[in-house]
Amino acid sequence: MRHAKVLLDRDFAIGDTDPRLFGAFVEHLGRCVYGGIYEPGHPTADEHGFRGDVLALIKELGPTIVRYPGGNFVSGYNWEDGVGPLEARPTRLDLAWFSTETNRFGTNEFIDWCRAAEVEPMLAVNLGTRGGDAARNLVEYCNHPGGSSYADLRRAHGYPSPHGVKFWCLGNEMDGPWQMEHKTASEYGRVAAEAAKMMRWVDPSLVLAACGSTSRNMPTFGRWDDEVLEHTFELVDFVSLHTYLNNYRGDSAGFLAAPDLMDMFIEEVVAITDAVAARRRSPKRLALSFDEWNVWYRTRRTRQDRVKEGWPVAPPILEEIYTMEDALAFGGACISLLNHADRVKCACLAQLVNVIAPIMTETGGGAWRQTIFYPFQHMSGYGRGRVLKCQVASETYATSYYDPRGSLDQVFPLSAVPYLKLAAVATRDGGLSLFALNRDLARPMTVSIEARGFEDLAVAEALQLRDDDLGATNSKAAPERIKPAALDGVASEGGTINLRLAPASWNLIALAARPQP
Ligand code: AHR
Repeated sequence: MRHAKVLLDRDFAIGDTDPRLFGAFVEHLGRCVYGGIYEPGHPTADEHGFRGDVLALIKELGPTIVRYPGGNFVSGYNWEDGVGPLEARPTRLDLAWFSTETNRFGTNEFIDWCRAAEVEPMLAVNLGTRGGDAARNLVEYCNHPGGSSYADLRRAHGYPSPHGVKFWCLGNEMDGPWQMEHKTASEYGRVAAEAAKMMRWVDPSLVLAACGSTSRNMPTFGRWDDEVLEHTFELVDFVSLHTYLNNYRGDSAGFLAAPDLMDMFIEEVVAITDAVAARRRSPKRLALSFDEWNVWYRTRRTRQDRVKEGWPVAPPILEEIYTMEDALAFGGACISLLNHADRVKCACLAQLVNVIAPIMTETGGGAWRQTIFYPFQHMSGYGRGRVLKCQVASETYATSYYDPRGSLDQVFPLSAVPYLKLAAVATRDGGLSLFALNRDLARPMTVSIEARGFEDLAVAEALQLRDDDLGATNSKAAPERIKPAALDGVASEGGTINLRLAPASWNLIALAARPQP
């Protein structure tokens, strides 16, 4: 048995969770759009071709904002190809995924879909093969009321009211050589600054995110972010960062420790942005947009794989099947995001349907939840409020994490990983949500929480996600093999909360203020 202690106080907070922390991502990639969110002719499809079964699962999952249309795809995308009459839209080769893009779905369909899904749209502009001119025209098309060529084009396409898209990404992963028209930091910084300037001239209300480093082990990490911000600091609100956790080595302990490197990555990016601010004697503090994060390693593809397969339309690629163990690492990442709510004001689970996704579909058939669905649903459903500072006393273990992303193959030693990873959120209605990961693979853990200022809480919901088989998955045949079950034995009395967590388990405990007599 392991034992851990936690001390928290209602008045000592990290920061408020921004609703945009609970975002997701839809890219023109594989079956994410076609056969995922959009499938005209599907038995559940509405008049727009949006799958009703998928929309229902998305509402259950609870994303708040969805990034679109890429990803790598956006760096070769002509947004004009995806608007206007369907029969006039061109079919193009997509060099990001070596697929054929039919453009049946484009910006207006995405906006309609966001309205149906009740999420905020987030658009990325192409700063690879295109630049500031195409970007400012897209802003005019989407957000200008009328009386100009692109705004009137939108109106002619059947959208008299502006789309009012607020959040825009200035390109995607522009530090990566895999990107179409990949750039050096100064090349990208200049293009992003000019695009940002013109986009804001068209619509001053925009919120803009510059591309930071794709991952922590990019050879240019640090220098890239610094140089890009030298050009863009005054013009943007966010800098982006991405992380995909892996277990290439089949080392569960190392895998479950990996979210601690996400913590470090966030803190390093904060330090870099604040160093840029300091050099300028600026009081401005940039926010972070963690606009791609997930577990992803089994379905990575090389350029050669892509070339071999030819140019299929919406091929079933990157369809990662998530295990119980993946859900644990994923839950750890949720906790990392919550615990940096002061600076991470936006984050997007990559992606939403079929492609490295919490929701899977069969084209023409049903839809089901993957294991990672549940920690995200818990975080989005119960994570709204003030994240509290938590002093955690837990035994630790030593491990390492292997991360071959980028061009550096690196093993990162982690000498003191607490078995307990935890976040606590004070909810607006006076309650407390606890998100707890027991990373001990073999031993249960008791947790004693001294929750100052929460003397009168009753357990409203207590759920755990665990399985004896860390390799267990959900599938079409067994869609509910892994799902949350009741977590028994939670006690809350006079500001002390006691938990007993199973080994290798993700746990959500929602406590509500007891009604006063
Ligand atoms: O999400 C899949 C891909 O991962 C995205 O297209 C890209 O931005 C990242 O490398």
